[in-house]
Amino acid sequence: MPDEPIRNSQSAIRNLIRPDIATMEEYTPVQPFEVLSQRLGRAAEAIVKLDANENPYGPAPRVMEALSRFPWYHIYPDPQQGALREALAGYVGVPEEHILPGHGADELLDYLCRLFLLPGASSGSGDAVVNCPPTFGMYSFDAGLSGGKVIDVPRHEDFSLDVAGIEAVVLSAQPPPKLLFLTSPNNPDGSLISHNTLRRLLKLPIVVVVDEAYVEFAAGDVSVAGWVPETPNLVVLRTFSKWAGLAGLRLGYGIFPLDIIQHLWKFKQPYNVNVAATVAGLASLEELPLLRQRIASLIAERERLRDELAKFSFLRPLPSQANFVLCETLCVPARQIHRALAEQGVLVRYYDKPGLRNYIRISAGRPSDTDALLQALTSLGIE
Ligand SMILES: Cc1ncc(COP(=O)(O)O)c(C=O)c1O
Repeated sequence: MPDEPIRNSQSAIRNLIRPDIATMEEYTPVQPFEVLSQRLGRAAEAIVKLDANENPYGPAPRVMEALSRFPWYHIYPDPQQGALREALAGYVGVPEEHILPGHGADELLDYLCRLFLLPGASSGSGDAVVNCPPTFGMYSFDAGLSGGKVIDVPRHEDFSLDVAGIEAVVLSAQPPPKLLFLTSPNNPDGSLISHNTLRRLLKLPIVVVVDEAYVEFAAGDVSVAGWVPETPNLVVLRTFSKWAGLAGLRLGYGIFPLDIIQHLWKFKQPYNVNVAATVAGLASLEELPLLRQRIASLIAERERLRDELAKFSFLRPLPSQANFVLCETLCVPARQIHRALAEQGVLVRYYDKPGLRNYIRISAGRPSDTDALLQALTSLGIE
């Protein structure tokens, strides 16, 4: 065995890693549910998990039956995802040639960054994306991972987009940024982007990615997926994680203009969506009435949650069109409330960063989840 290479291997290997990745900060991994349950000293069933906008009702019963009946787990998936794309075309109302499923919407965000961004941010060159924080963290994460630059155009204090700011950046930055990430409803505040605002932004020379992960919880028919076939610079991303309760199975999809999707087909991983996710997605689309009832229950619970939170003097909940409520904490640090609730087995997400100083985000759950949260908040005894 050669001595020298092994003694030097640590720094030698580090030098081989892409410098921008080697110097990147590690992200804090989410704790697995079982570990969390051990740390809190509570059975998993006794934890009220309202921190990740998951769907507490879980998959539809038909999904569980279809998964247990499926006989072909030993066979590779269909790389073209024919059956799923056909079913999705019916659900979204857009021809299937515009639709590409992914291992969660997250995978498609990564694909988009890799498709459009020429790396080079670490050396000052490289392509850029426009990001509108506070928003979902994966846009800047994936852009960075692809060696791209992130130009932030922060939202206004009421979380609405700084449209003029976005226009100014897109029209003046050099080289011109390539992707604009928008989220409607936005995570973490739950606000929608109006169709007029979107029409204005679509006039810019940039690919506009509208992330509709939570659109099933919004009032009215607000999705812009149907615009894609006629709009060459619009991409819409959707997921089964929230409304269909499949977060753990990882199934999302994008609706792309033909000039974009043809290139995605060239480099997507052939088996990027596994058969279990495919079976679950198809079965969910066959069980829409039940899943829509559950969505309606979560919407009702979101509204009750907001009304009840507003009764606490130290909380200022915001209106939301998603399956969560963002809430400013007044007088008491959000971190303190987060920790005190966790000690009682109620998990919420807290933020303490620019643009989101002292906020907690609470997912809408079952009525019993809201009851547990309200009881835990009351027991804090904060006046
Ligand atoms: C705005 C937004 N987009 C996408 C995702 C991820 O979707 P998926 O689970 O399909 O990867 C999330 C998850 O929280 C989200 O909040």
